[in-house]
Amino acid sequence: MEIDRRVFIASLGGTTAVSLMSDEAKADALEEFMSARLNEAAAAQNAPAQNAPAQSAAAAQQFPSMAELEAQIETRSTRRGVGNLFVARSGNVKRLDKMPAKPRLVDFFTMRFNNTSNHCLQSATKALRSGMSEDVVLACLLHDVVQEIIKVDHGWWGAQLFEPYISEKATFAIRYHQALRFYADTANGYEYPDLYRRIFGHDYRPEPYIEATYQMVRKHKMYGEARMVTVNDLYAFDANAQVSLEPFVDIIGRNFKQPKEGLGYDNSPVAHMWRTIERPDAPL
Ligand SMILES: [Fe+2]
Ligand SMILES: [Fe+2]
Repeated sequence: MEIDRRVFIASLGGTTAVSLMSDEAKADALEEFMSARLNEAAAAQNAPAQNAPAQSAAAAQQFPSMAELEAQIETRSTRRGVGNLFVARSGNVKRLDKMPAKPRLVDFFTMRFNNTSNHCLQSATKALRSGMSEDVVLACLLHDVVQEIIKVDHGWWGAQLFEPYISEKATFAIRYHQALRFYADTANGYEYPDLYRRIFGHDYRPEPYIEATYQMVRKHKMYGEARMVTVNDLYAFDANAQVSLEPFVDIIGRNFKQPKEGLGYDNSPVAHMWRTIERPDAPL
């Protein structure tokens, strides 16, 4: 069976994605690709000729403008950048479980990352299934959890929160996924998502600091790691997805330097950020 190399590489998310895959993952992907082509060929031989026109794309969606979003600011009691832990989506906030004396990353996943863990687990699951490196899988697993304390500039905040405990590549990927998500990279399988037309406005153009960051990252040797976070990110919430932290426990064990004193108590430059996540009800 003849393989179209270009189509195969594109199916894996482009050359950068392929360069980050292990040899084993590449071999598995090739086998899967070949068996899918075989199934398609068999189905085409058996299917009756179809001349019906292709289904039209879903009805065009309407997105707000930046001015319309700006006009909504004074209709809210909180700002859009507030962290999830500090505001209830409806009704009142809930009492939080008491954390262990020496909290570990997995404790934060189960007891504090309540609004972001599902999204991050879906993203990490996608990265794991597509054979990404452990740095990329870990970055996907952690990429948005800092939104529990703050959403503004969450790439930079998130990288800072994890920097003492993870590799430079994973930190880089978390920090810069925020800027890269505004720039398509079709060769690597990333299109500008409609979700951002809805959130930022259809006429949004990234601020100069984001544009400058993108230009720097585009040429950086770790571009691939950061880009793969955007490729494996989810731009629509799948409420039915079954996710679990279980497949990532070993990856965390190998790649996350858990401080023996517990997160928040190791006197690292970011310990206060972990304590803030642990006790968001502290008045001062
Ligand atoms: Fe993000
Ligand atoms: Fe995300």
